[in-house]
Amino acid sequence: MRNCARISVFVLLFSSPIAAKPRPQQAGPDLSWAYNAPDKTQPAREEEGPVHVPGSNKAYTRAQVNDVMNPPDWIPDAHAPAPTAILHGSGAAIACGSCHLMSGLGHPQSANLTGLTVAYFLQQMADFKSGARKTEAMPGIAAALNDEDTKKAAEWFASLKPKPWTRVVESDTAPKSYVDAEFMRVPAPGGGTEPLGERIIEVPEDTARAMSRDPNSGFVAYVPKGSIARGKELVENGIGGIGVGCTSCHGASLEGMGQAPSLAGMTPLYMVRQIVDIQSGARAGNLVKPMIVFVKKATVADMIAIAAYAASLSPR
Ligand code: HEC
Ligand code: HEC
Repeated sequence: MRNCARISVFVLLFSSPIAAKPRPQQAGPDLSWAYNAPDKTQPAREEEGPVHVPGSNKAYTRAQVNDVMNPPDWIPDAHAPAPTAILHGSGAAIACGSCHLMSGLGHPQSANLTGLTVAYFLQQMADFKSGARKTEAMPGIAAALNDEDTKKAAEWFASLKPKPWTRVVESDTAPKSYVDAEFMRVPAPGGGTEPLGERIIEVPEDTARAMSRDPNSGFVAYVPKGSIARGKELVENGIGGIGVGCTSCHGASLEGMGQAPSLAGMTPLYMVRQIVDIQSGARAGNLVKPMIVFVKKATVADMIAIAAYAASLSPR
């Protein structure tokens, strides 16, 4: 049974990459920075001993840290007891804690699952399963998870506390970086900076801690100068002269309202990927339909500005 699960994970990993990969764009702008596909050549990594993180007296090997069926649970007291699917997966569904972390705060290549309602969470799992929401990784996982485990996962993630996770920095430059084999963008070993251009570059506050799946070590997002103010304007007044802001459904501080989830403190790369998918129809569940018109005309600069502003707000 155990071997079966391992083999399915293997197939899943090698047939579909862990993170979202660039999908064809209609009108050509290069959005590959939002999708964190691993670089073809990876810097050599030195042999290392046991991995530790601050605030935990546990130790894991690197292979254990990256074991998608048994991710590290560095500080078990920090969360309610986790259902099996979160820590060990279920059947062919990989353990949620591996990509979303045991704090639920996640990496830029996955998603922050804190602050979501159980109803919204279950709807997304149903949309992944039905094909209404197409993306990497999640459709196979949602399809493999039974209803009971899905409900337990939704309730457990809803019990986690949202907290600030991304520091937004307006800049003309960003650290030189590469995307590692675990789909995370990290600063290049040689250091240095490069022009940012029309992109968001999101890297760990502390690379070693993030690579250890530390549940408490967040990220820095470098965004073009002026993005936060421009994003606030678009969020409050709408895109392309439509005259209705995102705030009318998502709340004045994007704290979430009714069926519209909280966007405050959201991981910016994840948010850009969602706007792209909602525009293209890759994300087309019934609940998302009423908002399509509001993002249809968003340019890349608009998406960057909105994601920068939303990430700069305190999560609730
Ligand atoms: C292999 C990595 C991986 C694992 C394991 C994983 N996820 Fe995800 N998850 C992702 C990625 C990547 C996204 C974002 C997809 C995108 O950018 O469109 C995501 C998004 C989600 C979302 C949508 C969040 C939102 O705001 O709409 C939910 C819900 C979710 N995952 C639940 C789960 C559950 C439950 C499990 C465990 C059974 C799990 N995930 C395991 C990678 C993973
Ligand atoms: C008419 C109400 C409405 C308006 C206006 C609206 N939204 Fe939404 N939005 C929703 C609903 C409802 C959902 C949940 C969709 C689902 O369940 O898939 C959603 C989902 C989202 C998501 C995905 C959240 C996640 O966790 O994956 C993003 C991102 C988003 N909206 C951004 C925006 C932005 C940016 C604007 C303004 C330009 C906006 N929305 C305007 C109702 C709205």
